[in-house]
Amino acid sequence: MTSLLVDRIGLLITNDPARGDGPLGLRRDAALIFDGGRVAWVGVASAAPAADRRLDAGGRCVLPGFVDSHTHLVFAGDRALEFTARMTGRPYAAGGIATTVAATRAATDEALVARAFALAYEALEAGTTTLEVKSGYGLTVADEVRSLRVAGALTGDTTYLGAHVVPPEYAGRADDYVALVAGEMLAACAPLARWADVFCDEGAFDADQARTVLTAARASGLGLRVHANQLARGPGVALAVELGAASADHCTYLSVADVDALAGSDTVATLLPGAEFSTRAPYPDGRRLLDAGVTVALASDCNPGSSYTTNLPFCIAVAVREMGLTPDEAVWAATAGGARALRRDDVGHLGVGARADAVILDAPAHLHLAYRPGVPLVHTVVRGGDVVVGPG
Ligand code: NIG
Ligand code: FE
Repeated sequence: MTSLLVDRIGLLITNDPARGDGPLGLRRDAALIFDGGRVAWVGVASAAPAADRRLDAGGRCVLPGFVDSHTHLVFAGDRALEFTARMTGRPYAAGGIATTVAATRAATDEALVARAFALAYEALEAGTTTLEVKSGYGLTVADEVRSLRVAGALTGDTTYLGAHVVPPEYAGRADDYVALVAGEMLAACAPLARWADVFCDEGAFDADQARTVLTAARASGLGLRVHANQLARGPGVALAVELGAASADHCTYLSVADVDALAGSDTVATLLPGAEFSTRAPYPDGRRLLDAGVTVALASDCNPGSSYTTNLPFCIAVAVREMGLTPDEAVWAATAGGARALRRDDVGHLGVGARADAVILDAPAHLHLAYRPGVPLVHTVVRGGDVVVGPG
């Protein structure tokens, strides 16, 4: 593998406070060397050592690749009509998930793989170099296994979400379905997953059911994540903190006790601006979480029902406009925050030893990600030291 020098970086975000100013570790007139798929050197451009190849950043801003810690990329079908109805007043409800479950069960393996890969490439073009991918639209043992196999072709951060909703064939027998999810389905899925997740909310699973699934998953060696407090104030966040989950995701409706619990824990609050945007729900108060000392991540929640976007620049812009994050905080949340939510220290920053995942923006500063909403500012993407999008 050859080394790559990225120089003439106008503004570099390292997310390593030891290497620059503030929490983003900002440096001007910087250069980076990638070698062996890792960051080998960071410093002032004039002092950069030689490398085999050179990538001229042309004075642009360079930042770590985005870490999207919450996606549902394995599905079939389309719910554009449901979205359209919501825009004229119909509320979002968990029940819509069943539409995608039916389409996913009916799809061929090839169709699921093709869609998941197309979405992952769409995300890559928008600067996402690390993805978490959930199952959750199969909801039979065979279909959840199949979904996790597809997810595993995209990422090591695969998440078992058998407890997404109770599928129609278990209507009125939710506890039997929970027993399946925490038993036979978990046994089949655990070898294919790093994480387990439960949708603990109105119309999905209550606290006792969620606890049953999550404790069984933890006993099988999986890390925990929770879809929490998306549709109502409920027990999801408290449960996530109680069980030491890596992340509580959505956090749309929070009590004072929820905020305090998150602040006193290692559980990241993952905010999903695309979901409020696409369901017309109120945006969570990200400012309140940050001021309380909670670690905040931003992710896409890409799925065909509540948030059909892979675009983290869009999520950053909405988080700044609607959730009270500064542009610095939003960029940190979509990079280092996502890494924290996945309990990874190899991504989300550009310190020496980190994975060589970086984005060059067609902009002088990261502030433009919020300042220029909807504009495709990603100029070049480097993943594992290879230029995968942009000038080759
Ligand atoms: O994260 N909330 C639960 N699951 C997804 C939505 C799934 C769907 O509507 O298909 C979410 O928003
Ligand atoms: Fe989700």
